[in-house]
Amino acid sequence: MDSIGSSGLRQGEETLSCSEEGLPGPSDSSELVQECLQQFKVTRAQLQQIQASLLGSMEQALRGQASPAPAVRMLPTYVGSTPHGTEQGDFVVLELGATGASLRVLWVTLTGIEGHRVEPRSQEFVIPQEVMLGAGQQLFDFAAHCLSEFLDAQPVNKQGLQLGFSFSFPCHQTGLDRSTLISWTKGFRCSGVEGQDVVQLLRDAIRRQGAYNIDVVAVVNDTVGTMMGCEPGVRPCEVGLVVDTGTNACYMEEARHVAVLDEDRGRVCVSVEWGSFSDDGALGPVLTTFDHTLDHESLNPGAQRFEKMIGGLYLGELVRLVLAHLARCGVLFGGCTSPALLSQGSILLEHVAEMEDPSTGAARVHAILQDLGLSPGASDVELVQHVCAAVCTRAAQLCAAALAAVLSCLQHSREQQTLQVAVATGGRVCERHPRFCSVLQGTVMLLAPECDVSLIPSVDGGGRGVAMVTAVAARLAAHRRLLEETLAPFRLNHDQLAAVQAQMRKAMAKGLRGEASSLRMLPTFVRATPDGSERGDFLALDLGGTNFRVLLVRVTTGVQITSEIYSIPETVAQGSGQQLFDHIVDCIVDFQQKQGLSGQSLPLGFTFSFPCRQLGLDQGILLNWTKGFKASDCEGQDVVSLLREAITRRQAVELNVVAIVNDTVGTMMSCGYEDPRCEIGLIVGTGTNACYMEELRNVAGVPGDSGRMCINMEWGAFGDDGSLAMLSTRFDASVDQASINPGKQRFEKMISGMYLGEIVRHILLHLTSLGVLFRGQQIQRLQTRDIFKTKFLSEIESLALRQVRAILEDLGLPLTSDDALMVLEVCQAVSQRAAQLCGAGVAAVVEKIRENRGLEELAVSVGVDGTLYKLHPRFSSLVAATVRELAPRCVVTFLQSEDGSGKGAALVTAVACRLAQLTRV
Ligand code: BG6
Ligand code: GLC
Ligand code: GLC
Repeated sequence: MDSIGSSGLRQGEETLSCSEEGLPGPSDSSELVQECLQQFKVTRAQLQQIQASLLGSMEQALRGQASPAPAVRMLPTYVGSTPHGTEQGDFVVLELGATGASLRVLWVTLTGIEGHRVEPRSQEFVIPQEVMLGAGQQLFDFAAHCLSEFLDAQPVNKQGLQLGFSFSFPCHQTGLDRSTLISWTKGFRCSGVEGQDVVQLLRDAIRRQGAYNIDVVAVVNDTVGTMMGCEPGVRPCEVGLVVDTGTNACYMEEARHVAVLDEDRGRVCVSVEWGSFSDDGALGPVLTTFDHTLDHESLNPGAQRFEKMIGGLYLGELVRLVLAHLARCGVLFGGCTSPALLSQGSILLEHVAEMEDPSTGAARVHAILQDLGLSPGASDVELVQHVCAAVCTRAAQLCAAALAAVLSCLQHSREQQTLQVAVATGGRVCERHPRFCSVLQGTVMLLAPECDVSLIPSVDGGGRGVAMVTAVAARLAAHRRLLEETLAPFRLNHDQLAAVQAQMRKAMAKGLRGEASSLRMLPTFVRATPDGSERGDFLALDLGGTNFRVLLVRVTTGVQITSEIYSIPETVAQGSGQQLFDHIVDCIVDFQQKQGLSGQSLPLGFTFSFPCRQLGLDQGILLNWTKGFKASDCEGQDVVSLLREAITRRQAVELNVVAIVNDTVGTMMSCGYEDPRCEIGLIVGTGTNACYMEELRNVAGVPGDSGRMCINMEWGAFGDDGSLAMLSTRFDASVDQASINPGKQRFEKMISGMYLGEIVRHILLHLTSLGVLFRGQQIQRLQTRDIFKTKFLSEIESLALRQVRAILEDLGLPLTSDDALMVLEVCQAVSQRAAQLCGAGVAAVVEKIRENRGLEELAVSVGVDGTLYKLHPRFSSLVAATVRELAPRCVVTFLQSEDGSGKGAALVTAVACRLAQLTRV
């Protein structure tokens, strides 16, 4: 619309143009006036229909129903709570879009003390018309320029300024500082901004301007600023209403009602964007010919139809159209119009407000009309005042219908019979228009009688509210930086992973040669994977993982397994060796009885998932306990002998222990039964380890140079010589120190299930001490060792955020929704590092096999088992991705073992029995 001179009106030097036809007589003219003003009358039934239709659209949009497209947008903001009053600091606020062609910059100081206020300093700038309709970059450059100009004049510390951006147009917000403009409304139409993040555009412009280092921390709609800046009163202020150039409201909705959010707790502020409400059924009957003309001549015909009946940008224009019509009909100004009266934008909101104000004398109305180049008579002045009142009353009533819809929505969602609520109001129409708020309030009482509403005018146009949101956003951003710093050492890049792979290769080679190395590379005396000709019934034991099992394995053309899980109490795992092995034999006896096997001496394979130096298939000296075991008098002993001694003590059983097998080997054998290319076994469970088929010529200490032997790497101990120190974080050190084997199994402690939960717990403790989590409150439960189980990592990373919160609350952690997200990120960082380290290990192994065989490319399968690998949603894919990256010449297939290593132990036993028979024959 045209801009006008500083007095607000064009000087009336232009000539009048008068109707040629005769003027209507007095009765005709009063009919014409009546007919015209009648169009602006809205009945209660019509208002109720608008209220109901808007409520329907709001609820439809909340439910996420896309078709038919809801008539309002209901855009969630990232504001989750009304202010506590404790926010403090200095903030710059930039307001764009609320008040016509002006842009406002404010300096707001929050004192953190309720009731104590420091008046903001502010400056208003007029945005030139060509900028409002020009290129987006020009608009944002203009804003950056205004910011500098304002700040230049401020006697304030200008370092590290934090800015809140009040941007009053419909936007999709995806964070407190990320917001994409959906479409311009009101008088703006800058190119290249719709579909863009307006925060980024502002940041870019500030950078181009170069004068200040300003961080844009938050972006909010004006309604949100209005609500958040409301003085805390007796009742909560949970609605923000703006009637300025445009109109809109926001309110606090239950998050669980907002389908697009994955949240079932708490509240979120939703911007209704009711300006775009249009429903032919409800709005059609109240639209006048003037509304149609106004829409037709606007920048955005067909859009924002509701706003065009209420917003300040349009009220003056509606009055102008009515006056021009009445003049043309000869009812006003003796049938004469003026060029100003016929030009768009010549009557502004302030003129309407003034003319309608009963305290304004006739002389002032007269003067305003004269400035428009008109010569009003006494009756004209009165009629013009009626027109202004009719247009504004309708606006207030329609606005009331919309507000009543919001209140009904709030009442439904709170499931309350009655509602007491404060509505913060802002915008020039509310502030300066004499009767607007009283008509609004009266009409809301009629339309929503069950709601007790008090309207609270915002004090400084919402600037303080924007600063409040900015303060919260700044705190969250600082927390995020601390979180990032804390997690940075867990984020490994390609070079770091390649270095782990290379170190692993070196340690493997040394271990195989029998030199000092953190990798023991233990020969297992398993020389071949099964060939399918094995037959018979076998017993198997499986000790060292989450469960202790006894199994009966029947190998015919396939494999049939019957098994029983027994518990090993911690007191037994960490008691005396004799106690442990007696317990194992008790379990076997029980199993035999249950299976009707008593008295039979079946060949037995023993999966024993700890490092053993094997001297043959049925002899394994326990080198040291790992994981949670620490039974006395076992290290340095042959485990098979310990088992045989316990059997002798029990006398009741006879057992024929044929083989002792590590779980990695059992897993490889078990998968190898299905896929002959399976030459690697991998465990990622309570502990972690791998075995693979190595060329015998490379294995020192075992006679023979041809053929292969499976090597148990015992990679859990990788790095125990200090070689992983570069990667070890303070949290790894804490976990290690608190474990039963400090300094040992350092690789395992970064990867496996027994430790990841503990790493996470230590990180959470640290973040709490920094005030980043749980509002900085130290929580007793979190001090308890092992309270954060590794299975939580798998669960947390698989679930929706709200379920995550339920898990954490069950642990007694007092969470905010930001906390839940941060805990999730901690879990992700820890498990990602674990999977990548594991992948680097596998890459070292497959590359070794490829080079051993002198192949350009190797295709190989890895049999994998372990609760972490199987239950975690991303672990397996992260391992595979890392292997692809670090060993591009190997095509590696991962096979999940379904039957556990007990089956593999039985197969090893079967092979041994077959070979023994052969030698006997
Ligand atoms: C099982 C094996 O399948 O996987 C165990 O049978 C092994 O012997 C285990 O130790 C590893 O997983 P976890 O998670 O139980 O330690
Ligand atoms: C327009 C905008 C909306 C804003 C309102 C009041 O309707 O689309 O975002 O809140 O004007 O300024
Ligand atoms: C531990 C044991 C190892 C086992 C692994 C997986 O690292 O020392 O033998 O294979 O856990 O269970």
